[in-house]
Amino acid sequence: MKQENKPVHGMWANRWVFILAATGSAVGLGNIWRFPYITGENGGGAFVLLYLLCIAVVGVPIMAAEVMIGRKGGMSPINSMRKLALDSKVSQRWSGIGHMGVLSAFLILSFYSVVASWALYYVWESVIGGFQGITAAESGARFDALLADPWLMMGCHTLFMVLTMVVVGRGVKGGLEKAVEILMPLLFVLLVVLVGYAATTPGFKQGVSFLFAFDFSKLNGQAVITAVGQAFFTLSLGMGAIMAYGAYMPRETVGKKGGKPQPVSIMSTVIIIALLDTLVALGSGVAMFPLIFSNGLEVGQGPGMMFVTLPLAFGQMPGGVLFGTLFFVLVVSAAWSSSISLGEPVVAWLVERGLGRGKAAALVGLGAWLLGIGSVLSFNLWKDHTFLVGTFFDNVEFLSTTVMLPLGGVLIAIFAGWVMKETHARKELAMKSFPLYLVWRALVRIFSPAAVIALFTYTIWKMVFPDEAVAAPEPVAQEQVEAADSAAAQEESEAAEVIEAVEQEQGEADVPAAPAESDVPVVPEGQ
Ligand code: PHE
Repeated sequence: MKQENKPVHGMWANRWVFILAATGSAVGLGNIWRFPYITGENGGGAFVLLYLLCIAVVGVPIMAAEVMIGRKGGMSPINSMRKLALDSKVSQRWSGIGHMGVLSAFLILSFYSVVASWALYYVWESVIGGFQGITAAESGARFDALLADPWLMMGCHTLFMVLTMVVVGRGVKGGLEKAVEILMPLLFVLLVVLVGYAATTPGFKQGVSFLFAFDFSKLNGQAVITAVGQAFFTLSLGMGAIMAYGAYMPRETVGKKGGKPQPVSIMSTVIIIALLDTLVALGSGVAMFPLIFSNGLEVGQGPGMMFVTLPLAFGQMPGGVLFGTLFFVLVVSAAWSSSISLGEPVVAWLVERGLGRGKAAALVGLGAWLLGIGSVLSFNLWKDHTFLVGTFFDNVEFLSTTVMLPLGGVLIAIFAGWVMKETHARKELAMKSFPLYLVWRALVRIFSPAAVIALFTYTIWKMVFPDEAVAAPEPVAQEQVEAADSAAAQEESEAAEVIEAVEQEQGEADVPAAPAESDVPVVPEGQ
């Protein structure tokens, strides 16, 4: 093997560890917190379908491209791309994609830590039995109280950032491998428990049909790019996280019992990761929406959705304290393994520039922590200071997730498809089937960039010229608004029907039908 193939930061023990680490990066707040709430805000089914399509035809090929570039380069994303550009005799400026990734990493890490720290706080809330018998109104009030307390949020944000940077500082290989090996499977189990609970609630059917009934009239311009951005965000694409992890991926497995080493296939590995990630996102949706409909909550309630909805389940189910605590511990762990992967590309790059790992991690952590203060304040002191798309938090989230990740992803696709020498890419991917390789190549060269650029152009057009974009006179737009309104009204009345049904069926039993009537605390069995 050529010397260039030796990764400078070490190597995962085997392919399985890479899968775990990359799944650890992919599965995180994007699946459990963000996917359900943006699905709620964007009308459900049609949005979900678009998101799934983006995962399959844009996400998977670009993820394979990132792993391929990383493994071929063996260094931090910036230097891997610089090296491959050199090898392919093109300008080293292409490593600028990596620099953009560094900026995305800071932006995402800053707000990611703030949201993860809510989950951290909820571990405590759950341990002290704070969710027991809680009503929808109380749950909302509890979350609002957290948001209203900048000091509490700052404390939790600081703690989470320190946790992240300690691992990155020590090198992601050691501790992370062990942690994800146990935590990831546990997270799956707990999600299954939650979905099981959701299936017993009266709003289950409505929740599931909200997620899977494809009503395209609900899809607007902004929903389209949000779905694209979410596909990149949830798979950790477009900023180098997966590329950095790809650099530590072995090329060959050592066969069991000393058998022949097998080549490690990038494509099948990537497909496994994307499937696991999608399962967790859909599972979180199926766990949450039934509760929303059963409790008369709003589907479009925004970033607080998970934190308002799930305590209701834990407050009512038997063993809720245990399950609740375990669940939030797992959410924190999932967020932790993701935020570690956000820090890694930047830290690896600083290490290559001669900085010690510990120092590099401290520096990156400090920068993201400082930026995160803006997100902390967005929920209290700066709540009313809105610009562009909303608060400081909204803007950082929008810019990084919806704009920079897709842009970075498309540039990476172009790099893999057009800039890199074809033979280099083909060899590194080492796909068994040549036709499938050609499909991949067509997807990264043409389809992915074209699709993302087209969807962006469409959305920006619709945002800038809302009326012209529908190419119809005012009254039609008005009709659409009314149609949307009446659809929403119908949904509400359906929700109300469900609530009535609950009231009739169960009286004041386990499910609080309406906040005002559900003050009777329910003590679950086993407490
Ligand atoms: N994929 C992570 C999640 O879904 C977030 C993330 C984005 C991590 C980009 C790394 C890079 O929570």
